[in-house]
Amino acid sequence: MDIPYSRWHLAIEKRRSRRHFDPKLPIAPEALAALDKVCNQFAPFPYARSRLVTESAESVFKGLIGSYGKIKDAPAFIAFIGNMDDPFVQEEVGYTGEGIILEATALGLNTCWVGGFFRPKTVASLIEVSSKERVLAVTPVGYSPESVSWEEKLITGFSRSRNRLPLSKLIRGLPREKWPDWVNVSLEAARLAPSAVNRQPWGFDVQSDGITVFVRTASPGFNISKRLDCGITMLHLEVAALDSNRKGEWEFLQSPQVAKFKIRS
Ligand SMILES: Cc1cc2nc3c(=O)[nH]c(=O)nc-3n(C[C@H](O)[C@H](O)[C@H](O)COP(=O)(O)O)c2cc1C
Repeated sequence: MDIPYSRWHLAIEKRRSRRHFDPKLPIAPEALAALDKVCNQFAPFPYARSRLVTESAESVFKGLIGSYGKIKDAPAFIAFIGNMDDPFVQEEVGYTGEGIILEATALGLNTCWVGGFFRPKTVASLIEVSSKERVLAVTPVGYSPESVSWEEKLITGFSRSRNRLPLSKLIRGLPREKWPDWVNVSLEAARLAPSAVNRQPWGFDVQSDGITVFVRTASPGFNISKRLDCGITMLHLEVAALDSNRKGEWEFLQSPQVAKFKIRS
């Protein structure tokens, strides 16, 4: 499936994590069908996939201790699954999953990446997961009430979710005055990517023929791979590049580098 870049670029601006859902508002059948379709069709890597589940969403999140990640009244969820034989599985799942999240946003639905506080065994009992696969993250989907509850505000405050680091703290390589326009636009979109506890572990090395994403921080991992966060930012970067008329290809790299977006000449 080709990336619907203008639609997803708009969704990047609009998306915010939401953790509470309106139990009286089921997902519109057309939105559900569109979401299922994108889960099946947006699969750019053979070892990363997404599955929409419309039953038992509550049991996936229920009863967990602590308020970070406490998801309430979700009518459905999406599982992001990777085959662990693939050395780049984390970034591939991040990239693929964020495509689904942005399409859900464009469809008017609310989401929240959840990497730690869910029950993988319950998810695995609801969908088929092979012995080589792992459910790396999930997202609840549904419609959130317009007003944000105090509990949600507490979590947002804890993860300082609206704050993003300035680009100046994230970049190296070509000086800014030498950047072509597409680089500015793409890095602005990349900067807005969501990450676990909003840790923003990425850095960007700007070169004349593309941009390399690397892991910039040595902060704690919370048992969620920083390369998964980096996969999310990779998708944002490419969506904005495409919207600026720049096509390219990703080349995966060894740690602490993640991947280089090489522009097509
Ligand atoms: C890989 C990943 C895992 C996450 N895991 C959780 C989680 O377990 N619980 C939770 O409440 N939020 C989780 N989040 C949501 C982040 O806290 C949120 O994206 C970040 O604070 C930025 O806020 P925003 O999404 O509203 O822009 C996760 C985000 C990502 C990308």
